[in-house]
Amino acid sequence: MSLAKAHGAVINGVSGLVVTIEAYLSQGLPGLTLVGLADTAVGESRDRVRAAIQNSNLSWPGERRITIGLSPASVHKRGAMLDLGIALALLAAHQQIPERLDVAAIGELSLDGSVNEVRGALVAALAARSVGIEILLLPHTQVAEAELVPGIKVIGVSSLNDAVAFFKGEPFSTPEVSLQTYAAPETSDLSDVRGQPDARLALELAAAGGHHLAMVGSPGVGKTMLASRLPSLLPELPDDLAVAVTGIHSIAGLLKPGQGLIREAPFQAPHHSATATALIGGGTNQVRVGMATLAHGGVLCLDEAAEFHRVVLDALRVPLESGEVIISRSGFTSRLPARFQLVLAANPCPCGMFVDAGDQCSCSPQTRRKYFSRLSGPLLDRVDVRVSLAKPTMADFDPELEPESSAVVASRVLQAREVAAARYKGQTWMCNAQVPGPIMRKHFPISTEAMRLLRRTCGGLSARGIDRIFRLAWTIADLNHQGQPTAPDVELALQMRDGADLWQ
Ligand SMILES: Nc1ncnc2c1ncn2[C@@H]1O[C@H](COP(=O)(O)OP(=O)(O)O)[C@@H](O)[C@H]1O
Ligand SMILES: [Mg+2]
Ligand SMILES: [Zn+2]
Repeated sequence: MSLAKAHGAVINGVSGLVVTIEAYLSQGLPGLTLVGLADTAVGESRDRVRAAIQNSNLSWPGERRITIGLSPASVHKRGAMLDLGIALALLAAHQQIPERLDVAAIGELSLDGSVNEVRGALVAALAARSVGIEILLLPHTQVAEAELVPGIKVIGVSSLNDAVAFFKGEPFSTPEVSLQTYAAPETSDLSDVRGQPDARLALELAAAGGHHLAMVGSPGVGKTMLASRLPSLLPELPDDLAVAVTGIHSIAGLLKPGQGLIREAPFQAPHHSATATALIGGGTNQVRVGMATLAHGGVLCLDEAAEFHRVVLDALRVPLESGEVIISRSGFTSRLPARFQLVLAANPCPCGMFVDAGDQCSCSPQTRRKYFSRLSGPLLDRVDVRVSLAKPTMADFDPELEPESSAVVASRVLQAREVAAARYKGQTWMCNAQVPGPIMRKHFPISTEAMRLLRRTCGGLSARGIDRIFRLAWTIADLNHQGQPTAPDVELALQMRDGADLWQ
């Protein structure tokens, strides 16, 4: 046969796409042509595949004209992960191995014929399974990653010769991979945080309702400490989200060999000098996922939030609104998931003294306003919980006192989340922060008495402001008594968002 097919896969955004590779050998001027929207890395496949075949004691059909077609032709193919599939299609067309359409193969070839790791093995496995492919052939060091996807057989190879042996039904063996077990990183615990009762409550509310959180306070009062402990209060990721999050980290090349499904909510804390591209993603050729996408399902923490570049903060509006980022480049658009919980931490003013020791603050009211202006508007508008922190006192550091641990708070959070999830059963949202305002007001009212209080205290509040109070009051009710929000719940909700009047 001089025409044969093989399957490979590429990464498209954060999902995989199975590619059918056709190899055709014909009479004519010797040479190799690649058709079907391939980028330069795929173009270079030509040379890698040729060298790999020749250096593996296989024969290169050098006297023939070779055409390699990639389909679907409408999708850009990037990267080198098609190398192995291209080599196998070619060898099948040259009748050195049988054609196998039940198999997809991914891997980058070295010139010596060894198979190198690729990014996104897990999402490639998902894509292959979804089109009914039964076996995924991939670099042997990535077997464990692909095996996280049930329902597809995973075979590891270390060289093109291994893959050829597999296609011929001959035995081969790959070097042993020492699987490291990764102890969960030594995460810090909420019991480390002294005092700060308001901020601790704010953190618990944010965890229980999925609310965005803003904290303001002088340097050294524990804002960073508290923010980094939010993931320790969040429930484990459910199955589908765990697979999505693990897939994202796989594509970004951040999965460690042998690491299982990511079950802990991700935490990303970009430095304030970060660029919009680092945060949102982008890149000229291959789409690089940004920290907003890496935070999908977890927490994006902007520490020293007022120091971020304005364009960076503005770029976060879209993901906050829609739960995804959209990257447009000439020729293609990628939509990447980015539904995260935002945590903003900031000093109250450039000198940092305003909250705690207002009299020592050397900033003018104008300077203070300017300092915060970057955060105000669209960004802060979506933050349901706002709190200011004062310095902990000496009494807070009394060794007799034992602050509550993350585990204790997390169990309350889990319970509150379950109450909310039962209430929103059958809906697309899972926690209070995600419920659209109009639906909240119409279908999930607060008690009459609570409504009366709300009307009395905040006549001037915008509809958005009222929605925030509603959502927060529901979270307070879910944590405390699991019924309709009462007047005291609303009172607490009001307190929790007026905490930092600087943020208005
Ligand atoms: N409330 C607190 N309880 C215990 N330690 C604290 C507290 N606040 C600050 N610290 C100590 O000070 C250090 C700096 O705290 P940090 O969270 O970075 O403050 P901030 O982010 O508000 O500037 C912490 O690593 C911790 O050792
Ligand atoms: Mg800090
Ligand atoms: Zn100041």
